[in-house]
Formats: sequence, structure tokens, C-alpha cells
Amino acid sequence: MNLPFAESFKTKMVEPIRKSTRKEREKWIKEAKYNLFNLKSNQVFIDLLTDSGTGAMSDRQWSEMMLGDESYAGASSYYKLKNAIKEITGFDYFLPTHQGRAAENVLFSVLVKDGDLVPGNSHFDTTKGHIEFRKATAIDCTIDEAFDTIIKHPFKGNLDLVKLETVLKSNPVKKIPLIIVTVTCNSSGGQPVSMQNLKDVKNLADKYGIKVIFDSARFAENAYFIKKREKGYENKTIKEIVKEMFSYADGMTMSSKKDAIVNMGGFIGFREEELFKQASVFNIMFEGFITYGGMSGRDMNALAQGLYEGTEFDYLETRVEQVAYLGKKLDEYGVSVLKPFGGHAIFIDAKRFLPHLPKEEFVAQTLAVELYLEGGVRAVEIGAIMADRDPVSRKNRFPELELIRMAIPRRVYSNNHMDYVAACCANVMERSAEIKTGVKIQKEAPILRHFTVELERI
Ligand code: F0G
Repeated sequence: MNLPFAESFKTKMVEPIRKSTRKEREKWIKEAKYNLFNLKSNQVFIDLLTDSGTGAMSDRQWSEMMLGDESYAGASSYYKLKNAIKEITGFDYFLPTHQGRAAENVLFSVLVKDGDLVPGNSHFDTTKGHIEFRKATAIDCTIDEAFDTIIKHPFKGNLDLVKLETVLKSNPVKKIPLIIVTVTCNSSGGQPVSMQNLKDVKNLADKYGIKVIFDSARFAENAYFIKKREKGYENKTIKEIVKEMFSYADGMTMSSKKDAIVNMGGFIGFREEELFKQASVFNIMFEGFITYGGMSGRDMNALAQGLYEGTEFDYLETRVEQVAYLGKKLDEYGVSVLKPFGGHAIFIDAKRFLPHLPKEEFVAQTLAVELYLEGGVRAVEIGAIMADRDPVSRKNRFPELELIRMAIPRRVYSNNHMDYVAACCANVMERSAEIKTGVKIQKEAPILRHFTVELERI
């Protein structure tokens, strides 16, 4: 008999979570103005809002916390982290930051100017935000296949080299300070970028003398997919694959809250000393001195350990296969999910789920509310509410896809929890015809409204 899949960890500490009644949830979601961000965490049974900073650290990470050196300058924790980053990514220079968007803020303060263009593969919100904040433009060069939820392309995070070269060819090079490659690509569904594509992008960038920076939040999951899906990498270790991936970048920004399995932290990696020096000025201004940059010594220690653990095959197999486990269950129940399954999350196609609801009634948000009501599961809307209004016309933007994202925290939930989540979705699907109306907006912020929007049921 083939041995079944089993997790590569056992539990040493537990945190109780509480089930609630439907009646309680109806009251709570109403009080939360039908915005799941407004719920208290103890009103949620299974929290799939994000996989960012929600992972469980290992016993080794916790013991590293006790060894943290809290010296303001030159702490041993800084050097421990510096060594880990060099060993895992190959970058000689780095700056610690308090999280991923802080890394973007510091790096872009050096590189991105008014009127610049920054091509990439479906830039993450904060990345785009930091580009647009500087009056520059993010240009999406992701392959077309990424925008189809059904096509089974193994590397839907890939950049389209023709789209990319068109941008590089038709604009002055000095207007394009960098190309951002997000691994895995969160905005297209946690989809990986192939090694070949990373290599091709770097070659093209070199031809024009433009820097390539990886938005690396989920770099290890990307490496796992390369090992599983790309010819020639089957027998390489994750650490070898990661090293090769970063050899095609001039630098990286990192939200350590994802693949480095810590609750807070980030960093920037650099190949050149000059860029590191320029960025150091902004790091000191925004984050802290260059040997701590917004992190405590203990947190840098845990992060260093997390980088080693997060690039172990057994850990990644447990992680990515759990996400796929949920995806397969939903598939069996006939729920329409984005394929192939992403590395960190499963995305449900809300338009196929509630085809009778008009887009003006915020289909994905309605589904997220129903899922919460069904079983206390918290997911996040990736649809018209998140898309905000058009900055000029102030009209609602209605994206092609109305999705809800169920992001799985690392080493936190069991597959029983996944079964529970899938059953909740199946139950909502069964009564979907009874969901006759959606939600409407009562109050909203001018930008990034999904965090604070207040809604009511129609
Ligand atoms: N880049 C990517 C690809 C991300 O997914 C995130 C965060 C960031 C950058 C910013 O990092 O949160 O540490 O400042 N993504 C979270 C999510 C918030 O839920 O997907 P941060």
C-alpha cells in the first residue's frame, strides 16, 4: 500500500478556538457592517483572511527568540540574519525592515521617481501603492493565461516576454528603473514563475540595462513548484533552486511574514553595495538603524531560523499539499476554484457560484459573508470592493474576476479544518439559489476601501 500523506510536524502547543452559533454570527457580522475585517478574531472559527504573519513558529524559532541580542548597533542577531540571507539567497548586502511594504518604501525611495514605469507580473497592492504614491505607473505584463481561472498552465505567474519587451522598447530606459517579479504571484492566485521565465526576464533586462527585483514573499513556495513542475529540477534541493532563482535578480524585497514563517518582519537584499548604501539612508529615516531596521534582535533570530526551515522540502510539501487538499475537496463538491491551485491560497470564482447576482451587488463580498454565516470561516474578497473606484471618474471599477481568497496560515490548521471549510462552501453552494440579493455600500474610504468599508444587505 502507498503510505498516505502526513504532516511533517507534530504539535507542542495549542490555542483553543471557539465555534459559534449562526445566530451569534448573524449579530456579529451585522455589527461589523458586513465587512469581515471588522470582526473580532474570537468571532471567527477558522481564519483564512491571510497567510501573512499568521503562521506557527517552530520550537527552534522560539528558542532563537531567547537568544536575541537587543543591542542597538551591531547585534549578533543582525549578523545571524545576514549569514542566513547570504546562505539562502546569495545576496551580500541586506537591510532589515519591519515588514514587506516597508522594504518597498525604502527601496522605491531610491529607485522610483515621478513619471517612471515599473513593469512586472500583477504587482501586489502595496507594491503598486508604493509605485503610484510616487506618481509612477505599474505595468502588468503577466501572461494572458493567468486571467483565465480554468486553463491549467503550470506557471501562471510568468511574465509575457513580448509584453515586457514592448514596454522596454517603446519607452526611454531611464524611465524604467526596475522590473518587479513577484514570486509566487499573489495577485494572480499564488501562481509560480518558472526558472526559465526568471532567466529570460533577466536576459531581457540586461539587454536594456534595467534592474530586476524580486518581490519574494513566497519565494520558497515558488521553488517547490519549480521542483515539482519544471524539467531538470526534480532532483535539485529547494535550497539549490532558491539560490538559482535569486541569481537572476539584482535585489529583492521580502515580507518575512510569509515564507520565512515569522509573525512580523521584512528585509531588502542587494547585490550591489552602491544601491545598498543609497537605501541605507532611507532605512535609517523610515525604519531604524541599518543593523535592526524596525526589528527586534529576537525577531531577527527567529527570521534567520525561519529562512532555513521555510526552504526545507518536507515543510513545503506539507504546506503546499495542504492548500491543494482544500482545493481538491472543493473541486469534488463542484465548487469552481482557480486552477492550478496556488501555493498559499485557494480562490473561489464567486461569479460562477452566484451567477444570478448583478455585479453592482458585490458578488464576492456577498459570498464571503455567506461563508462566514455558514460556519464562522473568514475569507477575503478580491473583487469590486477591493478594486476601488476609478480615481478620475469615481465610478466603481468592476474587475473581470470576482474571487474570494482563502489563504491558509502555515503550520496552523489540520486537514480536518480544511474538510470543515470545504463543507461550509458546499452548504452555501447548495442554498446559493436562495441568496437572492447582495450588499450595498453605506460608507467607504477614498482609497483601499475594502479594509474599512461599511455595507448593508440589500
Ligand atoms: N508582496 C506580496 C506578494 C504580498 O503578498 C504582500 C503582503 C506584500 C508584498 C506586503 O508585505 O504585508 O509584510 O507589508 N500580502 C499580505 C496578503 C498582506 O494577505 O497577501 P507586508
